[in-house]
Amino acid sequence: MHVRLRAASAYNITDYDRATTNMITRIEIRRATAGDAEAVYEIVLRALRETNARDYPASVIDRLVLTLPKGVASTLEEWHAYVAVVDGRTVGTGSLNGNTVRAVFVHLDYQGRGIGTKLMDAVENAANVQYESTLNVQSSITAQPFYAKRGFKVVREAFYGEERTILMSKDISGPSE
Ligand SMILES: CC(C)(COP(=O)(O)OP(=O)(O)OC[C@H]1O[C@@H](n2cnc3c(N)ncnc32)[C@H](O)[C@@H]1OP(=O)(O)O)[C@@H](O)C(=O)NCCC(=O)NCCS
Repeated sequence: MHVRLRAASAYNITDYDRATTNMITRIEIRRATAGDAEAVYEIVLRALRETNARDYPASVIDRLVLTLPKGVASTLEEWHAYVAVVDGRTVGTGSLNGNTVRAVFVHLDYQGRGIGTKLMDAVENAANVQYESTLNVQSSITAQPFYAKRGFKVVREAFYGEERTILMSKDISGPSE
């Protein structure tokens, strides 16, 4: 069962989800603030080590953990960033920078529960508000099926040494569904 209550200020959505257990879970998507930096740092670090590590060699993960968590945590207010908060715990993040999706990360324990989807709904909504016609993302190998499910198409691959990423793009110029 899925109950959606929309409390929309700029973009702020609260869902109540009892799909997996009988307990009702409160999921909130809200704009990130500098105060979320520490939690976001941990989410990105753990997702890299525990999720992306299945798809990339250790040398790539070791390099990314030195720069990416800090980079994402320090740009929350510069980018149009959101966080997902479940029962008071920050468990995911996702951002828009111009017409590019940045840093969509969900804590391992909360993946597969639609939280990435809710974060991307917020990011795409922000892109629509900016009248963007195209949305780009430099996807990890890990997230390619996730973005493909949302209608992103592969543009090309890019390599940073051993790190393979996939540039993907989505036309958002039409009326929203
Ligand atoms: C990619 C990521 C953000 C997805 O978050 P999530 O909360 O697990 O995603 P959702 O539960 O909303 O999944 C939405 C759909 O995508 C699918 N999906 C998500 N990740 C997938 C994966 N790695 N492989 C295949 N399908 C995937 C889900 O099965 C679901 O499909 P459904 O609608 O048919 O049920 C998360 O796995 C993650 O943090 N990965 C590591 C970090 C990363 O690579 N981020 C992208 C950087 S560009």
